[in-house]
Amino acid sequence: MVKAEPLKISPSLLAADFSALGQEVQRVAAADMLHIDVMDGRFVPNLSIGPQVVASLRDKTSLFFDVHLMLEHPLPYIEAFRRAGADSITFHIECADDSAAVLAAIRESGAKPGMALSPATPPQALEPFGDGLYLITVMTVEPGFGGQKLMEPCLEKLSPLKKAFPHVLLEVDGGVNEETAPLCRRAGADILVAGTAVFRAEDPAAAIEKLRY
Ligand code: DX5
Ligand code: ZN
Repeated sequence: MVKAEPLKISPSLLAADFSALGQEVQRVAAADMLHIDVMDGRFVPNLSIGPQVVASLRDKTSLFFDVHLMLEHPLPYIEAFRRAGADSITFHIECADDSAAVLAAIRESGAKPGMALSPATPPQALEPFGDGLYLITVMTVEPGFGGQKLMEPCLEKLSPLKKAFPHVLLEVDGGVNEETAPLCRRAGADILVAGTAVFRAEDPAAAIEKLRY
């Protein structure tokens, strides 16, 4: 039997006020992780931040940095994000680099490895890689933008993933809020990412607690 860990909340920085990121990370100190979305304008039609911004936030919070790379070519950037302070580094199985090589680079960097599945990718795609991952991110929106609606059918991937990889944390990313969090928890999520629901709330600490139960 694998002992269930308490649910972790990972607020997505994408919904924060980018003019005041140093203060924004302190508004979510009650969370367990900070979800950092990195976009290249190629893998997804949006741009966000790079390792320099991550490094500038490292001494502003002790939160675990959960870095989500939405990059066509993550391989050349692994070391830079680790040096910037990433605790876990997650890349998409749909990227253009060799997944085994990216995983090896993450492990070598000392960061915890994660892999993400876009909505159209079936859970079986992770079969060769799942064992030994720290987390699997199940996207419940098309990656690229915050503030979208959670696609419920994507949650059906969690149960087969949990069965296949009982030691890997399952993270749900996209459209998680007070209404959808119970569906994610029931589906077996271990980590909930929430951008809009946390950073756009007047009281982020209260918003985080609402997602837990
Ligand atoms: C989407 C990102 C998500 C997103 C979540 O590409 O990976 O992390 O910021 O934002 P909300 O919670 O607003 O859907
Ligand atoms: Zn994300």
